[in-house]
Amino acid sequence: MTQEYVWLITGANRGIGLEMVKQLLQTPSNTVIAACRSPTKATELQELVEHVSGGKLHVVALDVTSKESVHQAAEDVARILGGRGIDYLVNNAGILPGGLDTAFTMDVEVMQEAFATNVAGTAYVTQAFIGAVEKSAKKTVVNVSSTFGGIGADQGVRAGVAASYAISKAGLNMLTYKEAKEKPDIVAIAICPGWVQTDMGGENAMYPVSVSVSGVVKTVLALQPSDSGKFLNFEGEIIPW
Ligand SMILES: NC(=O)c1ccc[n+]([C@@H]2O[C@H](COP(=O)([O-])OP(=O)(O)OC[C@H]3O[C@@H](n4cnc5c(N)ncnc54)[C@H](OP(=O)(O)O)[C@@H]3O)[C@@H](O)[C@H]2O)c1
Repeated sequence: MTQEYVWLITGANRGIGLEMVKQLLQTPSNTVIAACRSPTKATELQELVEHVSGGKLHVVALDVTSKESVHQAAEDVARILGGRGIDYLVNNAGILPGGLDTAFTMDVEVMQEAFATNVAGTAYVTQAFIGAVEKSAKKTVVNVSSTFGGIGADQGVRAGVAASYAISKAGLNMLTYKEAKEKPDIVAIAICPGWVQTDMGGENAMYPVSVSVSGVVKTVLALQPSDSGKFLNFEGEIIPW
C-alpha cells in the first residue's frame, strides 16, 4: 500500500513554496497544507484548490512573524487534519530584505527584520506544529536555509555580502541543529535550494524553480534518522557549516 504523507509548507503562494505544492500534488497519496499570509490574494493556490479533489490541498492563513497568526493556523490545521499528524513541516517562508548589504553598512533594523522572519518565525511555527509532527510517521522538519548561512560555504566573490540575510540563515542553521539535538525522535534538517529563479533569486539565478524543488523533495524523501541535524543542498550533499 502507498504510504500517505501530510506536508505543511509555509510561504506557499509563490516561488519555491508554490512549486513544492504543485510537485507534491502530482503524487496522489500526499495531502498538502499550503500556508501563506493572504489566502484570498494567493490566486495560483486558489486555482489549484479548484482543480484538486479529495481534500488533498488545503490553504491556511499564516504569517510566520505573528504569534497570533501562527496559533490560529495551528488550530485551523488541527481542525483540517482531525487527529492526523504532519509528516513533513517545511519552513520555507523567508525574506532577503537587505539585498547584498555588508556587515559595516547594513541597516541593523533590516537585519532584525530578516531575523524576525527567517529565524524567529521558523521557531514560532515549529513550536506550534511540533506536536502534530511528532504524531506522524516521518516526524520531519525541513528548514529552508541558504549556503549564505554557512561560514564554510561563504567563500569567493560573494563572501562578505548579503550580511543581514547570511546572519539570519546562520541563526536558522543553529536553530535546526538545536531542534535535532533536543528531540532525537524527529528529523530536523536545514536545506539550501540552490540559487533559484524566483522573485528572491532573480531571473539570472542558476536553477529553474522546478529543478531546485524536485531536488529538495527527492532529498527530503530520502532522509534517514541519522541525517537529523545536517545542512544539505538540494542534491542531498552536505554543506559545510
Ligand atoms: N531563491 C533563491 O535563490 C534562494 C536561495 C537560497 C535559499 N532560498 C530560501 O528559499 C525560501 C523561499 O525563497 P523563494 O526564492 O521562493 O522566495 P520568494 O519568491 O521571495 O518567496 C518568499 C515566500 O515567503 C513568504 N513570506 C515572506 N515573509 C513571510 C511571512 N512573514 N509569513 C509567511 N510567509 C512569508 C512570501 O509570502 P508573500 O507573498 O506574502 O510575501 C513568499 O511566499 C526562503 O527561505 C529563501 O531564503 C532561496
